[in-house]
Amino acid sequence: MPEFIDSILKEHRIFFPSEEFKRKAIIKSMAEYSKLYKKSVENPEAFWSGMAQQLDWLKKWDVVLRNDAGFFKWFEGGYLNVSCNCLDRIIKSGKKDKIAFIWEPESGESKTYTYGQLLKEVCRFANVLKKKGVQRGHVVEIYLPMIPELPIAMLACARIGAIHSVVFAGFSYDALKDRIQDSNAELLITADGSFRNGKVFPLKGNADAALKECPTIKNVVVVKRTGSSVNMQNSRDYWWHELIKEKDIKDFCEPERMHSEESLFILYTSGTTGKPKGILHTQAGYLLYVYQTFKWIFDIKDKDVYFCTADIGWITGHSYIVYGPLSNGATVVMYEGSPTFPKPDRFWRIVEKHKVTIFYTAPTAIRALAKEGDEWPSRCNLSSLRLLGTVGEPINPEAWVWYHKVIGKDKCPVVDTWWQTETGGILITPLPGATPLKPGSATKPFFGIVADVLREDGSKANADEGGYLVIRNPWPGMLRTVWNNPDRYKHTYFEKFGVYLTGDTAKIDKDGYFWIMGRIDDVIKVAGHRIGSAEVESSLVSHAAVAEAAVVPYPHEIKGQAIYAFVVLKNGIKKNDELKEGLKKHVADHVGPIAKPDKIQFADDLPKTRSGKIMRRILKVIAEGSTDYGNIMTLADPGVVEVLAKNMVK
Ligand code: WTA
Repeated sequence: MPEFIDSILKEHRIFFPSEEFKRKAIIKSMAEYSKLYKKSVENPEAFWSGMAQQLDWLKKWDVVLRNDAGFFKWFEGGYLNVSCNCLDRIIKSGKKDKIAFIWEPESGESKTYTYGQLLKEVCRFANVLKKKGVQRGHVVEIYLPMIPELPIAMLACARIGAIHSVVFAGFSYDALKDRIQDSNAELLITADGSFRNGKVFPLKGNADAALKECPTIKNVVVVKRTGSSVNMQNSRDYWWHELIKEKDIKDFCEPERMHSEESLFILYTSGTTGKPKGILHTQAGYLLYVYQTFKWIFDIKDKDVYFCTADIGWITGHSYIVYGPLSNGATVVMYEGSPTFPKPDRFWRIVEKHKVTIFYTAPTAIRALAKEGDEWPSRCNLSSLRLLGTVGEPINPEAWVWYHKVIGKDKCPVVDTWWQTETGGILITPLPGATPLKPGSATKPFFGIVADVLREDGSKANADEGGYLVIRNPWPGMLRTVWNNPDRYKHTYFEKFGVYLTGDTAKIDKDGYFWIMGRIDDVIKVAGHRIGSAEVESSLVSHAAVAEAAVVPYPHEIKGQAIYAFVVLKNGIKKNDELKEGLKKHVADHVGPIAKPDKIQFADDLPKTRSGKIMRRILKVIAEGSTDYGNIMTLADPGVVEVLAKNMVK
């Protein structure tokens, strides 16, 4: 077991919310939590339909929940528009001039959008999309950096009933191509480039390379961000700023009347094996779930300034930069750059500058910034902060305690929120005014969520016994299917136990607290980013020198996990460091810099079963530097293991 997971499981300290925080909190005590939790799981339909009254409906639903042969449907018969709930509804409540987004660019002046301004921008771009032939039910691919046009484009799709599929701008052309091909998108929105640590990343160039093999894309809208020269293809590529200025583009766009179960977005994520899967979320249930979780977990108040450091290209940004906060009428800080640009105090400077009250980030960022020393946050005024959050990977208690003490000054609760692309929103989490906190534990299930830990045979694990983390009941924010692949949905998530299988292992302690241990599948969480080993492997194998490759995670002090690749070269190819660097660059260029292996070991052979299946479990043990292989006698050639272990890259 990696050392930091071990230290999580040995953690015993408990931190209580302050009296002041409790007094002002929406949910103020464990007694209140327990009472409401009981109600929510005893009668989830009554609970969720009660909550759903807070949204603006064009027509209320007929049925709260229906199980359609394993596919769950929420609020059928109901109609609403998600963009109206995030914009028009907030404006109607008197917040037209409240700031929706504060955009902090990597360099230069920040820019704000009020709810009123945002609605106008969204409507104008929605009208542009319509003019370019995008209709309800079409897929729009969005490949943009953290610039305001990204949420504007998403909300514009929601307004006209188009399905957005955002691809993280740190991915490169092969990753983009695979996602466009699977989604059959009609139109692509991208930028001339993005800034990263002062350098320009060629988004349009990547898009051009991907589009050579994506015939479904008819139009490309390009945002001018970096001013770098790009190739604009006649009658395919158009500038955003020119389209938006055209005379017939109106300031208002009539929202589509969307059925609760029509598609809102696809977000690709890596799964067990094979290509990334398109996780599908629909309208009403998703909106309700992110609305309610955001409200209670972040204990949102009208005056709060909320800063989530995630990228919108991942689910955290979809749910907790765009849809959750906006549907609550919150003020959101959106930051374009990296945590250490130009210096390691960038986040803290942003907190000081915009008087951020709620700060939500990933454990990787906390570990990296803690390592830079306390002087960086100490020089900034962080007194506006009242609540901290983490997401994306297990947090080690040392990092948690540093965050609580140095950033939160021992007064801000830390909500360690566990969830997934598939779950739409947070499922296991503290409620900041109620839950006593144990560093390293995501604590307890949110309302309406019945989480459990099971043994291999499906029986319930004992307290403190590790097992499969499952969710026993449906919830409004859950994925509805895998895009174009309903069988994969059933197989991946429901086949093993008949209830939702998360892919994580966990323990529940004697107080009912959940401790997430890690993944059971081939997902690698590199700095909180979800990378599929299959995607990295197929990229390595596409290199002319490579015959075979297997990729596994190994524990990394800052990133939590990093990528270790075992590579078998084709006959006659020389093994040398130059080739290793070439392979790393190949993966960075094709899939994206975040997928680049940290370590590459050349191997003559890989451990395989007699039927030829690579035993990644054993490779993982080798990469961790352990010898705890378990039974290797089922291998076609058990001798391979010793050779690999001897040559392991330290
Ligand atoms: C991991 C990110 C421990 C977990 C929102 C999950 C976590 C995967 C936590 C989903 C947490 C997320 N503690 N592990 N608080 N939050 N994870 O789809 O392994 O990018 O299955 O969604 O991240 O990653 P995804």
